[in-house]
Amino acid sequence: MSAPVAIVEARGVGKVYPMPAGPVEALRDVSLTVAPGEYVAISGPSGCGKSTLLHLLGCVDTPTAGSLLFEGHPVRAMGEEERSRIRLRRIGFVFQRFYLLPMLTAWENVELVQSEAGMPAAERRARTRELLEYVGLGERAGHRPSQLSGGEMQRVAIARALANRPGLLLADEPTGELDDETGEQIGDLFDRVNADGTALVIVTHNPALAARARRRLAMRSGRLAAPSVVAGS
Ligand SMILES: Nc1ncnc2c1ncn2[C@@H]1O[C@H](COP(=O)(O)OP(=O)(O)O)[C@@H](O)[C@H]1O
Ligand SMILES: [Mg+2]
Repeated sequence: MSAPVAIVEARGVGKVYPMPAGPVEALRDVSLTVAPGEYVAISGPSGCGKSTLLHLLGCVDTPTAGSLLFEGHPVRAMGEEERSRIRLRRIGFVFQRFYLLPMLTAWENVELVQSEAGMPAAERRARTRELLEYVGLGERAGHRPSQLSGGEMQRVAIARALANRPGLLLADEPTGELDDETGEQIGDLFDRVNADGTALVIVTHNPALAARARRRLAMRSGRLAAPSVVAGS
């Protein structure tokens, strides 16, 4: 067999947003390869392009320069349908503000993305129970987001992100709304998710969270610092 295919690979990627006041260059010549099961943290000042990079790695958006490969397939060549299939089945997203649906319970928030992926009801029930227990919220299944603490909401969001067994979990400042101790618990959970085989790319200002990653990258003005450039790519 040839070398294992990267989960996602950015090659010389750039992103320019056309704006009325003139183009905004959010990313410039970014190269990054994320192998299956890797744990990467990205830090950098506000506005340096971290969220833009996550959107590209997550097939939410496409680069304006360079190329992006998801599991070996060029994202540029994919239609919107193909990209949305990848987002639903291969990638999990976790955000600073959780983005749970407020009218749905923890259980329903986690189950919804499995329904969207066409998972049969019995399997969905078993998976949802397993996931809520995995994140330590078996007892909170019937709670709506307003009836949960910030840390609990983020656990539900992580359970939802894992629902379809993605190979890659992307998190954008996942502890930004949480106190240090709760942030530590979320960090422990990410460690477990990674130990169970999911690749993680976490954007964070939290040094304790970044320290957990095996690869730490610094970003500045739309560029990744030198160690991100993998030899040969
Ligand atoms: N959708 C967008 N349209 C126009 N400009 C954007 C958009 N998203 C981000 N930007 C700009 O791109 C730059 C990088 O933003 P972002 O990736 O959100 O940085 P970070 O996540 O590091 O704070 C900023 O100058 C921001 O204003
Ligand atoms: Mg951001």
